[in-house]
Formats: sequence, C-alpha cells, structure tokens
Amino acid sequence: MYVSIVGSGYVGTTVAACFADLGHQVTNVDIDQSIVDTINTGEAPIHEEGLPELIDAHAAADGTSRLRATTDYDAVLDTDVTFLCLPTPQADDGSIDLSIMKAGAEQLGETLRKKQDRHTVVVKSTVVPRTTEEHIAPLLNNPSDEAETAPVGVGMNPEFLREGTAIHDFLHPDKVVLGADDERTREDMHAVFAALLDQHDAPVVETDLRTAEMTKYANNAFLASKVSLINDIGNICKQFDIDAYEVADAIGLDDRIGEQFLRSGLGWGGSCFPKDTRAIIHAAEETGYEPAMLNAAVEVNDGQPERLLELLDERLDVDGERVAVLGLAFKPGTDDIRNARSIPVIEGLQKRNASVVAYDPVAADEMRERFPDIEYADSAADALTDASAALIVTEWDEFGALDEAFETMARKLVVDGRRVDLPIEERGLEYEGLCW
Ligand code: UDX
Repeated sequence: MYVSIVGSGYVGTTVAACFADLGHQVTNVDIDQSIVDTINTGEAPIHEEGLPELIDAHAAADGTSRLRATTDYDAVLDTDVTFLCLPTPQADDGSIDLSIMKAGAEQLGETLRKKQDRHTVVVKSTVVPRTTEEHIAPLLNNPSDEAETAPVGVGMNPEFLREGTAIHDFLHPDKVVLGADDERTREDMHAVFAALLDQHDAPVVETDLRTAEMTKYANNAFLASKVSLINDIGNICKQFDIDAYEVADAIGLDDRIGEQFLRSGLGWGGSCFPKDTRAIIHAAEETGYEPAMLNAAVEVNDGQPERLLELLDERLDVDGERVAVLGLAFKPGTDDIRNARSIPVIEGLQKRNASVVAYDPVAADEMRERFPDIEYADSAADALTDASAALIVTEWDEFGALDEAFETMARKLVVDGRRVDLPIEERGLEYEGLCW
C-alpha cells in the first residue's frame, strides 16, 4: 500500500521505516528540511537501535526505494492512508498541548480537499480521550466541503513503542489497537497492518476512537504506577534495611504481578510517562474526577531524586566537593534526556554548591545545553577521578564493569539510584543503595 506518515520524530520515523520494511511504499512528511534530508540520504534523524539500518536499506531521495521524506504535504495525495505522528507535548498546567497536532491536521485537511477519491487518516499520536472525534476529525472532514470532496475516514491507532527497542516493539507488538467509528476505515487500517500480522501473530483489538485513545493512557499510567508502587515499597524496605530487589524477585513470581517493571530506584523519566500521566490526570480532573492513585504515582516518582540526595547528605556535605554523576539519559540505550532523573539530581547538587562532573556514553551533548556550567567527562573513569562521591543515575551496562577506577576517587563514596552491580567489597566502597 501507499502510506504517508506526517511527523518524523521518535514515533514517525520508526513507523515509516518499519512500514517500508514490511513492503509498503512510504512517504514521511515533515516540516524540518534537515530531517527530510537526513532520511533521504539514508540516515536516521534520531538515535534508535536498528533504525539506521532500516533507513539505509529503504530510503532514497529519487523515490526508487520504499521510503522517501519530503516537506511537501501534497505527497500524501499519492497515498491511501496517512498516519498522524505529531508531538502532543505537555502544557505548563500538565494538560495536553494539541496545537501542533491541530495545525498538522488542518494542513492535511486542506491538502486532502484536492483528492477526489477516499482517503484514511489515522491518529497515532498520544491524545486524550475524545480528541480525535472532537478536534481532529472536524479538521479533516469539513462539512461545508462534503459535496465536492470524497470523505476522509478517521481512525486511531496508538503506539506502544519503548525508546531503545522501538523497532523491535513495532515488529513484535503484544497487541494492535484499531480504533474507528466506521467499517471502511477499520478495513483500511487492517490492510496496512496485514503484512505485520502475517509475520507476527498478535491480537487485534477493534474498538472505537475514544477507547483506543484511552487504552494508550491506561497502558502507560498502569506501567508508571507499577514503578511508583515498587518505589513506594522500596522506600519502605530501605527504612527496614531490607533489599527491595529481593522482595521484587519474590513477588514477581506471582503471575498476577509479573516480574517486569519492578526495578525500584530513581523512577521514570522520558517523553511519555511524565507527559501522559499528567495529561490524563488533567483530562480527568476537567471532568470533575480526581484520580488519587495517579496523582500519588506522580508524587512518589517526583520524590525519588531528593531521596537519593538525602542519602548523600547523610554521609557527606557536598558544598565545594567534586561529585560525579554517572548517567544522564532517562534510561540506558537512548540519548534522550527528556524528564531524565539526572536533571533534578544535578539541580539538587547545584543547590548544595557541589562541583558536578557528569558522564554519559551518548547523552552528554544533549545535557550540555541544559547545564552548560558543569564539567563533562569523556569516560566514567575520568568522572570518578578525584571525586568525593559518585551518584549512579542511569544503569548503563558499562558502569557494572567499573573497577580500579574507584581507586582514583578522593573518597570512595557511591550512592546508587539504579542498582548497578559494583565491586563494593573488592574496592572497599562506601556504598548506599536508594531502595536496597
Ligand atoms: C514507555 C512505555 O513502556 C511504552 O510502551 C510507551 O509507548 C512509551 O513509554 P519508554 O518511556 O521508552 O516507554 O521507556 P520504558 O522502558 O517503559 O521506561 C520508562 C521509565 O521507567 C524509564 O525512565 C525507566 O528508567 C523507568 N523504569 C522502568 C523504572 O524505573 N523501573 C522499571 O522497572 C522499569
């Protein structure tokens, strides 16, 4: 099929490359010419495992392959289905900011009025319940135009991609959710996913637009709450000098709980959990319902960085001391620092007048803009040299291999926020775990 993707960020680029790999002819539309040029030269505009290989295999500016990028919305006229993968950032009050989405839908609606035969538009961005039917569909199907132009079918297909494993997650979904309010749109969505479902059997959830929207928020809210719950339990364990990971291993054997998302520590960051929990809380509160559990999940998560710093305070007054921060990305495998736990940790150290030296294998450049005044080391070993304390903030595998580097510290004090396996006894570390 001929598929177009509007938006080429973490989701749009991954979806475009995967659809091309599945055999579709894909056009990725983005307003950023540099992103378009990057894709057309066969390179990935974002850091994502496996994406460079897919784009290199399928992209070319001359259109001879299955993936091309353009800034021209008219390119969607040569396709059958368009996926809207535009950002829905968090507004200052926590609510969802639909301005980019609405502008994209308006532009798409304008463009589709030139098309005589039917077209289907599928919202893939994370939008709060009733957004697609109340705010997006009207921009695509302008009642005043009904006479001249073919109708635009509108669907909703949420993504469940994790950064760092997005290609795998797209090609091996645990479910495909197809939200639509009419049969023809649902058929078009099935047609796009047929190639994927032929190679990877997954349950297809057929539902309406607002249920599909809510399924995405419920999925993320549940996962975020599970992490905050294990952090709440982890904080209790710490009070009783109990290892929360031993408790987590035991309760994870209950298949009603499951072993995943039980890693207590600094909690969640990224572009989704923080944004989506706050957006659905705000949307719920707008209806008059106060989601107590979700508010508590956000509160627990927000408190974890300060708990790590308080453990440090108990052992060292960091005023004027060199403190190493190991890990800046919101999780390993990505250079994304959006809502990373390293940000409140560095802010807290600066409030304590510590001299911060930070290291991350890929995310340092991203963080330099945010914190231009701290030192950035080229390796974890360099960050540890002469440091009076070290904080483990992101669980990069390489930190588990650190050994003799600890000997170069002015004081071998390590406060670990992510449960990394360190040579505590072998190197005589003063070690403190956040929830263990
Ligand atoms: C998440 C959802 O998993 C994905 O389905 C959705 O589409 C987007 O949001 P992502 O944010 O990329 O994906 O990362 P994920 O691996 O889910 O981790 C989210 C955060 O929770 C990270 O900051 C991670 O460090 C933290 N986390 C995760 C924990 O603190 N403990 C855990 O046990 C698991």
